Amino acid sequence: MLSIRNVSKQFDGISAIKNVSFKIDKGEIVGLVGPNGAGKSTLLNIISGIYLPNTGSIIFDGVDITNLQPEKICRQGIAKTFQLVQSFPELSAVQNVVVGALFGKSEKIGMKEAIAKAEKNLDYVGYPMNKTDYPVKNLNVVELKKIQLARALSTCPKLLLLDEVTTGLNPRESNDAISLIRKIRESGITILMVEHVMRIIMNVSDRIVVLHHGEKIADDTPLEIAKDERVISSYLGERTYM
Ligand SMILES: Nc1ncnc2c1ncn2[C@@H]1O[C@H](COP(=O)(O)OP(=O)(O)O)[C@@H](O)[C@H]1O
Ligand SMILES: [Mg+2]
Repeated sequence: MLSIRNVSKQFDGISAIKNVSFKIDKGEIVGLVGPNGAGKSTLLNIISGIYLPNTGSIIFDGVDITNLQPEKICRQGIAKTFQLVQSFPELSAVQNVVVGALFGKSEKIGMKEAIAKAEKNLDYVGYPMNKTDYPVKNLNVVELKKIQLARALSTCPKLLLLDEVTTGLNPRESNDAISLIRKIRESGITILMVEHVMRIIMNVSDRIVVLHHGEKIADDTPLEIAKDERVISSYLGERTYM
C-alpha cells in the first residue's frame, strides 16, 4: 500500500532522515519507534506532504505522492494526527471534525451529513458527547487528541498516521486507546503509528520499524525487535525495560 523509497531529509544541513526505505502492506499496524530526535515525526510529515524530502519517493497505492500538496495527499486517502495537537481553537468540537468530513477523501457531502458524520466519529473515538458544542480552546489535551483522531477518521483514510496519540494518557486511557486502534484497523484502515510506550507498541503492532539518528536500524516483528542487539543498545537499553 505504501512504499517509502530512499527518503532523506535535511534541515539546515543537518540530516533528520537518512536514506530510509520500508513498505507497509494493506491491513497492517506498523509501529515506528526510536529515541527523541530520531526523525519519526519528520518521516510522518514527509509522508503526509507537510515536508518535501530532499531525496527519495513515496508511492501510495501505486501513485507517486512525493511532491503532492498535503490536501491532495489527504484526498488520496492518507490522514494524520499531530504530536502537538493542531486544531481550530475558536470552533466547537464538532466543527473541528466537520472540517475533516468536508475536505477529506469521501464523496462531496452537505453540511448536515458532515455534522452527522462528525458526531458519529466523535462518539466512536470515545469523546464525551455532552461536549460536542464546546469551543476546543476550553478542552483538555485528551479531549483534543480525540477530536484530532475523529477529524482524521472523518476524511475516510485508507492509511492513518498517528504521532504519539497515547502521550499524556493514564494507563486506563492508554488501554482504551489500544482497543480503539485495533477497532480502527478491523474497520479496514491501515495504520502507521509513532509511539514511545513500548508496552503499547509491542502489544498492538504487527511490525516495528526502528529509527536511530534518522537511519532505519531494524524492521521486524515485535518478538524479533525485542531481541535485536542494535535496537537494545541504541533504544531499548536494558533488557529488563521490556
Ligand atoms: N522543522 C524543522 N526545522 C529544523 N529541524 C527540525 C525540524 N523538524 C525536525 N527537526 C529536527 O530533525 C530531527 C528529528 O526530529 P523529529 O522528527 O521531531 O524526531 P522524533 O519525532 O523522532 O522525536 C531533530 O534533530 C529535530 O530537531
Ligand atoms: Mg516526534
